[in-house]
Amino acid sequence: MNRPACGRVCLYDQSPVTDDFRQSVLTGLARRPRAIPPKFFYDAEGSRLFDAICACPEYYPTRTEKALLQRHAAEIAEWVGPACLLIEPGSGSSDKVRLLLDMLRPAAYLPMDISRHYLFETARQLGREYPWLEIHAACVDFTQAISLPFAPPAVRRVAFFPGSSIGNFDPPDARHFLRRVAETVGPGGGLLIGVDCKKDRQRLEAAYNDAAGITARFNLHLLARINAELGGDFDLEAFAHRAFYNDGPGRIEMHLVSLSAQTVHIGGASFDFEPGETIHTENSYKYTITEFAELAAAAGLALREAWQDEEKLFSLQYYEVAT
Ligand SMILES: C[S@@+](CC[C@H](N)C(=O)[O-])C[C@H]1O[C@@H](n2cnc3c(N)ncnc32)[C@H](O)[C@@H]1O
Repeated sequence: MNRPACGRVCLYDQSPVTDDFRQSVLTGLARRPRAIPPKFFYDAEGSRLFDAICACPEYYPTRTEKALLQRHAAEIAEWVGPACLLIEPGSGSSDKVRLLLDMLRPAAYLPMDISRHYLFETARQLGREYPWLEIHAACVDFTQAISLPFAPPAVRRVAFFPGSSIGNFDPPDARHFLRRVAETVGPGGGLLIGVDCKKDRQRLEAAYNDAAGITARFNLHLLARINAELGGDFDLEAFAHRAFYNDGPGRIEMHLVSLSAQTVHIGGASFDFEPGETIHTENSYKYTITEFAELAAAAGLALREAWQDEEKLFSLQYYEVAT
């Protein structure tokens, strides 16, 4: 593979503009029920708070998925093959890929994330830790089209999508996203994906209501971002974090609950809240392996192997696009 002109670590800014944030917030607060997409949690502070959630004892997904990656790295490497183009949408801290890099030895690693500053810092740090690794980090919104930031070499492409981030999409959007991933990796390409499993309500709800209150801070950070970037006047003391399992659709729902009757202003717009009224900020769908494999099949992805921990809390699944 030719060395790119930017050296071993290349940074690309293909991020959406602030208008997207303003428009999504104003539209989302005007509709009923009120909702703001979860992608807006993630600026540098939101990414830092997410990493702190991952370290909470109640938040089983991260440590369970990391244990699966460690335990099955050799099998994963066999499926993926050597010298692939490894694409990671929503890469965050790129913590999990570190468990695979030495084994996979990809031709290049493409972390992609909406949290620009955090992504670029992480990519630079990864470059220092893995001097042999070619890195192309792109700040993107993966709910839009996925485009590779450079002309990639003609090698096998594999996407890595851990953290059960797929659960943040409603199932039809998840299917669209998976279809775009399948198109991006192309025929013969692969997808290694982490998917959180259905389980008892208590375990699920504890994971999103940690005793240290980090998830609550993460949720409320959205309001702080609206205040700082869009000129809002949310009183963070007047809203509370709420997360619960809704077993009809099979998802954890995260909301911000208004604790009183209040009016919030954002720029020239104003929004009246009743006591108890909520802003829906995130869904996190849970799937059995069969349910998820059916969703992926509808997007053109065939399940090759699935791994689960003994308690069946979390799954790691490997898919291929039919040739
Ligand atoms: C739930 S975290 C998972 C982080 C990491 N992959 C892991 O497994 O721990 C979701 C990640 O996706 C990023 N993200 C969320 N929405 C995004 C979007 N629309 N486009 C690009 N990145 C996004 C966030 O910044 C964050 O790093």
